[in-house]
Amino acid sequence: MKNKIRRFIVRAKRYIVFLFQYLVLEKTRGLDFTMRDLTLYKESNGVYHGYSKTNEKHLRDIFRRIDYDECTKLLDIGCGKGVVLKEAVRFPFKKIAGIELEKELVSIAEKNFKILGIADKVQCIHADAVNFTEYGSYNIFFLCNPFSEKILQKVADRIFDSKKKGDVITVIYHNPRFLNIFEDGWQVIDKEMLHDAMKDYDTCILRLKV
Ligand SMILES: C[S@@+](CC[C@H](N)C(=O)[O-])C[C@H]1O[C@@H](n2cnc3c(N)ncnc32)[C@H](O)[C@@H]1O
Repeated sequence: MKNKIRRFIVRAKRYIVFLFQYLVLEKTRGLDFTMRDLTLYKESNGVYHGYSKTNEKHLRDIFRRIDYDECTKLLDIGCGKGVVLKEAVRFPFKKIAGIELEKELVSIAEKNFKILGIADKVQCIHADAVNFTEYGSYNIFFLCNPFSEKILQKVADRIFDSKKKGDVITVIYHNPRFLNIFEDGWQVIDKEMLHDAMKDYDTCILRLKV
């Protein structure tokens, strides 16, 4: 019961903060990173998860921990409206991109980037993570629990197959529901857990060897 009440308070606080961010900081400038979109979730009966953003402050805490000699090319798998890419621009990545299945969200992300003047620094690609063929061009991957376990397994296999034996990659997995897929299938070099108090979710940063 206590836990239920605590979760209710955390969620209520988050909704208030996010609504403030949207109405005051975003809508007034034509931006939208914050509003949830459950279209894909409903249409796919929960196989593909809908859009909700990762908290910006938490993203900056994550990116401060990254080794930029090793992690140079970031791909956000299921990038939605582009909040991860927007925050990544503050850090010395050499390449920053995201893939997103829902076309409407790609358009919103592109509009956001144009308004912020970062459209030349980031790329939002309309693609299904299951069929994406360019994983080999990236060495750090962000995932915010974008789909079911079965789909994640397929995507992890594709990333694995795109690499050479001995390659090292970093996976940042927010709300890591199916961490076993990476921990059991790959050689784990480092593992760090962070907690986002605002959303009450963990993030796992994994360094993995193929
Ligand atoms: C929880 S949101 C995360 C958005 C963003 N990465 C963030 O952390 O703020 C997950 C996103 O994954 C997208 N998605 C779900 N299945 C996908 C797939 N098969 N390929 C590409 N994107 C997908 C959804 O449309 C949604 O925008």
